[in-house]
Amino acid sequence: MRKPMIAGNWKLNKTIAEACELSSDLSKCLANFEEVDIVIAPVFTSLTAVAATIKNTPIKLAAQNCYPEESGAFTGEVSPLMLKDAGCEYVIIGHSERRQLLEETDSFINQKMIKTLEAGLKPILCIGETLQERENDEMLNVLATQIKGGLANLSATQMSDVVIAYEPVWAIGTGKTATDEQAQEAHSFIRGLLQGMFTQEVAFATRILYGGSVKPTNVDGLMAQADIDGALVGGASLKAEDFIRLVRFEKA
Ligand code: 13P
Repeated sequence: MRKPMIAGNWKLNKTIAEACELSSDLSKCLANFEEVDIVIAPVFTSLTAVAATIKNTPIKLAAQNCYPEESGAFTGEVSPLMLKDAGCEYVIIGHSERRQLLEETDSFINQKMIKTLEAGLKPILCIGETLQERENDEMLNVLATQIKGGLANLSATQMSDVVIAYEPVWAIGTGKTATDEQAQEAHSFIRGLLQGMFTQEVAFATRILYGGSVKPTNVDGLMAQADIDGALVGGASLKAEDFIRLVRFEKA
């Protein structure tokens, strides 16, 4: 069975001291919690300091982005190898904020996926439709394009290290969560795409997280859906109490 994952995307928040305070609080409260994969993604500058606070706990470290080269003349960028060196196990790739604000394309995202896997890190590939795309009935096409583009040239073996996050753009930071049914419909469609691209085994084994205004008040219903294997959380991951409640979800 797929082990649930609750991942906190801290986005552009928290100084090193603030990040360490939050990760230390999480470490204390979740020290022996093994039922769920717990992941936190601070900003680059906090990674090594946070890595020290979660050492010997089940909490795993993620970066929010990477550049698809190992090293070289790429001013301002950080490579997957460097993220691994800083203590990361996961990297969030293709977040909608980067797709929109920095115009990241599926082929650039695909390069990041490949380099991340080559470095021995596990990518969390984010996909999701905008409100306009949903209203124009383009949702399934958009999801298919993003999945096919993002996962192009990956092998079935590599897929065992890949996590997908379905994050409808209209639900991010808006307080408007997809309903349990809307999220399940998208997740089931994505799993079908994985079966078409790879194998039934890959489709069954790949974790698909939901993201977009996940809160203590709605996590239990979402996690009860057959194809929802976890959550990628922004706002509610910035407060220890809320994030711990998400990690300790109870299927409704
Ligand atoms: P919110 O939980 O703040 O809506 O953000 C979701 C998200 O973008 C996680 O990557």
